[in-house]
Amino acid sequence: MMNYKSGLKKGSPINKAGSFLLKMSVAWLLMLTLFLQPGYAQGLAAQSNEGPYRKGMVVCATPNASQVGIDILKKGGNAVDAAVAVQFALEVTHPEAGNIGGGGFMVYRSASGETNTLDFREKAPAMASENMYLDSAGNVIPDMSLYTHQASGVPGSVDGMVEAHRKFGKLKWTDLVQPAIDLAHNGFKISKRLASALNEERNGFIKLNPGKTYLLKEGGWHEGDLLVQEDLAKTLALIRDKGRDGFYSGVVADQLVEEMKNGKGIITKSDLENYHSVWRKAITGNYKDYKIITMPPPSSGGVALLQLLQSVENYPLHQWGHNQDSTVQLMVEAERRVYADRSKYLGDPDFYKVPVDSLLNPAYNKMRMSSFNWNAATPSASIQPGAFVGYESDQTTHYSIVDSEGNAVSITTTLNDSFGSKIFVGGAGFLLNNEMDDFSSKPGVPNMFGLVGGKANSIQPGKRMLSSMTPTIIEKDGKLFMVVGTPGGATIITSVFQTILNVIDFGQAMQQAVDAKRFHHQWLPDEVAVEKGAMENAEKSRLQQKGYKIIDRGSIGRVDAILITPQGFYEGGADPRGDDTKLGY
Ligand code: DON
Repeated sequence: MMNYKSGLKKGSPINKAGSFLLKMSVAWLLMLTLFLQPGYAQGLAAQSNEGPYRKGMVVCATPNASQVGIDILKKGGNAVDAAVAVQFALEVTHPEAGNIGGGGFMVYRSASGETNTLDFREKAPAMASENMYLDSAGNVIPDMSLYTHQASGVPGSVDGMVEAHRKFGKLKWTDLVQPAIDLAHNGFKISKRLASALNEERNGFIKLNPGKTYLLKEGGWHEGDLLVQEDLAKTLALIRDKGRDGFYSGVVADQLVEEMKNGKGIITKSDLENYHSVWRKAITGNYKDYKIITMPPPSSGGVALLQLLQSVENYPLHQWGHNQDSTVQLMVEAERRVYADRSKYLGDPDFYKVPVDSLLNPAYNKMRMSSFNWNAATPSASIQPGAFVGYESDQTTHYSIVDSEGNAVSITTTLNDSFGSKIFVGGAGFLLNNEMDDFSSKPGVPNMFGLVGGKANSIQPGKRMLSSMTPTIIEKDGKLFMVVGTPGGATIITSVFQTILNVIDFGQAMQQAVDAKRFHHQWLPDEVAVEKGAMENAEKSRLQQKGYKIIDRGSIGRVDAILITPQGFYEGGADPRGDDTKLGY
């Protein structure tokens, strides 16, 4: 990726003589004036290799699903049409996280600026109860909320897609589901990454799915092998032909409930019938000259993202530089405080009064940051969730789509862990989520992402488990500016936060902002997790001397994003940490 400075050097023929060259120079000058705004300059370089595109773009986790999405856009579908097709194509080509057995969130912004969000998060079954994962001594039973039939919430993705299409779709529903059926029926060539993920999961699949052979291959999978999923193709055909009823009643519902019975699961027919996704008003906030449009609860992501942005807004990040010690220190201290709030106050708003306004009050976040000391790390033990006067009381996937009119969709969808509970619905060929682990099984006991919670996120029948998913859309001067989101459990919020700052504060192009190495802090455990190469050793040791515990970890997040340049070009950022692919036209 070319940086801003080298982009300038390459494109500066201003000093050449001759009238033709003079005209060229004037043209270049004009272009440079347009591009010389923080965050846009590198777009020039990026686009010369890949575009420019201004009619449509899809960035998602697999090349096949990106192709499905862009084909729908080229056929005249809008961003929501493409999203529906991508969701189903990801179910087939990205079984780790793409799903019909899970849930997710959509943030939508129309070309004219209308915003909306769709909550198709899973719900706790009616038979779920607060202490369902505790033994008689009151201890959490290991793995019960993760790799059992009881780990699944009632899936929301199919209803979500039906509902999104009903409200905003343009093309025929059947045409949007068909590409996924073709991929499942005809098969597709798997990537090296998927081959090794499937091989790694082999023993788990066998153990948890006696008698089933889904996603298994004698001798193991290799890059380029054809993966055919016949049962899944049949299930998708029912969804194509019957819409919601193809999943929440009839054959597939019978198969799901039968699967539950076989494995002591608790999802019933009526849980399925009663599942409905919910349109919720987007939460919005400003960061500098930008308007952030993001997901409200039951995601913690939107609230936390806005809190984080407020907490760092008045500091000269740009001057300090990307991933320099002061920058990292400030962001970590903000993260520590915001994740502490998350543990207490965030949960399903249909069940718990989430103090969104209090959490998003700039004075509150300023006050929270006032206890921060440049000379030493604030121990997490000394940080508690804030108090409000008058107030009582790894695997997911993201896709970003923009169509020719400028309608934008930002969707994060998940089974929770990679391959969810790893349990397939017999006969139907799809994986079930293990989203129940996102509830707080017991106050203060961390879930699989190390996140703690309490009453706000306790299990109750019909309640949605708290999420960190942060699908987000950003506007500048009333125009679409960025579509962004990522998987990554607890690290979702901090990955989106960093990607936004990378563009707005550090002037990076979209792809560069996505490529950039990340770090993460979540209050508890009190440590800064960093990707290899995220920081120089000198920066690290300066922080260590101040008491920050720094630990190395593998990939953080898998961001797929789109930036719209002032000229209206679509500039994609597909995360190299996965098989993520950006396609434009
Ligand atoms: O909703 C949540 O916050 C989690 N279930 C997301 C899980 C996830 O991102 C795993 N991906 N790597």
